[in-house]
Amino acid sequence: MVIFDSGVGGLSIYQEIKQVLPNAPVVYCSDTQGFPYGPKPESEVIERTSVCLGLLAERYTPSLAVIACNTASTISLPRVREELNFPVVGVVPAIKTASEYSKSRCIGLLATPGTIARSYTDQLIQDFAGDCHVIRVGSSDLVQMAEAFLRGEKVSDEALKNILAPFYSDEQTPDAIVLGCTHFPLLTEALQQVSPTDINWIDSGPAIARRVMSLLESSDFESESQDLFVHTGAACQVDSLLPALEKMGFIDVVSLLEEP
Ligand code: SIN
Repeated sequence: MVIFDSGVGGLSIYQEIKQVLPNAPVVYCSDTQGFPYGPKPESEVIERTSVCLGLLAERYTPSLAVIACNTASTISLPRVREELNFPVVGVVPAIKTASEYSKSRCIGLLATPGTIARSYTDQLIQDFAGDCHVIRVGSSDLVQMAEAFLRGEKVSDEALKNILAPFYSDEQTPDAIVLGCTHFPLLTEALQQVSPTDINWIDSGPAIARRVMSLLESSDFESESQDLFVHTGAACQVDSLLPALEKMGFIDVVSLLEEP
């Protein structure tokens, strides 16, 4: 299967999938050259997602793709599902799970500014959390911080507190916060540490892993997989990621834009 993201956030989904399907071979693709998607016009995100998945399909003939990026999923799925001849799984903010959990009936949504403003998100909230007070916080900085964290940089507690502040400036405070960007689960521990109350941080990873498992049910993965990390950037852009990628079990890092 291929797992596609604008950057390294989708590695949170990769890790969930490997928990349930440790031997399933994965090609993880980061559109490093196009990162970040959050501030980009919708048309550009759709185009990049379509082109990258097309190249991945040609080169690796996967049986399944996961778009492990909320920004890309919420707008690109119809187009890529039309273009590709294998199932494409997308991630959407886990509003339904948060609503099922919340006792206070106040939930938070932390995502990119694009995702929180999208009509797709309005619809999710209307369908699954109509009786909840939903506080939406959009942050592009948190995406950058998660990328830097994976590259071994320290996360600033002050910066995290500032990002979370709007959740606590309201009369009601949430007991569950949806991590509506796949980058954010990389920072769950740091977020909890600066949070003034105990929060259930909810992400889509476990649900996506279950969905992938059900689609690949009949496949037999006997030997340990040799996972590849593919990117669209310059080699120097991935150098600082190598220790984290090696720890996760990737055996090689290659460019999608150069001939193999
Ligand atoms: C980004 O590239 O800005 C993050 C995209 C996302 O996971 O929503």
